[in-house]
Amino acid sequence: MNDTLLKHTSLSGVSIMGFDCKRIRKDFPELSNGELVYLDSAASSLKPFSVINAVKSFMESSYSNVHRGVYEVALKATMLYEEAHEKVAEFLKTSSKQVVFTPQGTTTALHRAALLIYQNIDIPQGSTILVTGDSHNSNLLPWIRLAQWTKSKIRILPLKQNGIPYWERINEYIDETTRIIAVTHISNVTGYKAPLEEIVENARKHGSIIVLDAAQSIPHIPVDLSKLDVDFVAFSSHKMLGPTGLGVLWINNRLIDKLEPALGGGGTVKDVKPVNNEIKPYWDEPPYKFEPGTPPIIEAVGLKTAIEYLEDIGMEKVAKHEEKLVKEAMEALSRRKRVEIIGSNDPREHRGIITFTIKNTDPDAIGLKLGSMNIAVRTGTHCANTLYHYIKKPRGGIRISFYIYNCIEDIEKLDKALNKLEIQ
Ligand code: ALA
Repeated sequence: MNDTLLKHTSLSGVSIMGFDCKRIRKDFPELSNGELVYLDSAASSLKPFSVINAVKSFMESSYSNVHRGVYEVALKATMLYEEAHEKVAEFLKTSSKQVVFTPQGTTTALHRAALLIYQNIDIPQGSTILVTGDSHNSNLLPWIRLAQWTKSKIRILPLKQNGIPYWERINEYIDETTRIIAVTHISNVTGYKAPLEEIVENARKHGSIIVLDAAQSIPHIPVDLSKLDVDFVAFSSHKMLGPTGLGVLWINNRLIDKLEPALGGGGTVKDVKPVNNEIKPYWDEPPYKFEPGTPPIIEAVGLKTAIEYLEDIGMEKVAKHEEKLVKEAMEALSRRKRVEIIGSNDPREHRGIITFTIKNTDPDAIGLKLGSMNIAVRTGTHCANTLYHYIKKPRGGIRISFYIYNCIEDIEKLDKALNKLEIQ
């Protein structure tokens, strides 16, 4: 390993006890000139040198396809790819057998869950699939498709005026027809965390399948899958310091061995052979029977390194740091009369995400102006159109979202920029 790699492969300078965001910033090349205020990690996170270098070094010296060749580099690549599954499993306190890598991200992982359910589980005509009005499209459209395929109905847990679902009424929406409940763990607009334990308790009484969209939770808070009684969990590598192009679908042990893969292809079978004039596949063990074709190998190696980086810090500390940032930002925003927060007014109910509107302004126009001052926020409807229809803000909002590399100074810069734009 050369000096540059050595210099950037570990989280040097983050004290184990404390949390030094300024030191962390140095690990992120896009922040190196100190100009960019990146407040858009809910859309995608920045990448540290360690991930960039792991990907580069893998492509330079260890790359090949996996689970195919028996030459040295192929064995090395296969080992690294399998280690990536093990790392995800260790991070979430589960087994690597249950960790399926998919292309793209949460969107494909959730679609894969919908396909697996469609092909393996009886969803009688007239069943209901419960979704919440705050779901982003990735956790809505697969269920709308599944409802069409199975002639089921979508039932929606509606939203309050602040964009938070009526969680206290969820039990009214679950009954013996409810085959699937698709839960957004943390909303990508309000940052509100769903009361998962309560939902699970009631869902299990009715035998419903629980699907958890963890795109905004697993990168930001500690998640222990050994304690969550859910059936499918989906999240993205690119929102947690890893490369784009890789989703993770976790499947509960109670289902995984019973499921036939939704998609077939190289890598999913031990054998395929003619039996009594039919061609019969003999599926491989999970997770590989669910990973058809050449998988996202490079991306998996990057995700492993990303998780190591997060583990070096500790997810408790990641969550605590974001809590501090949210509190500061809520204070700064709430001083302005024209600002209206979407979601709770209590900073403790925003997990790393604050979305707001400004009276008499178009969110995109503000986004453009902030962008011209090097402040990256995401404006518009955040792929959560339904939520914005519920709260009657079809133009969407302005979202700021935090991660480990944000410091209080970022909020001060945003505050100054809003002053400059005369947002009172
Ligand atoms: N769902 C992603 C976001 O919230 C893309 O920005």
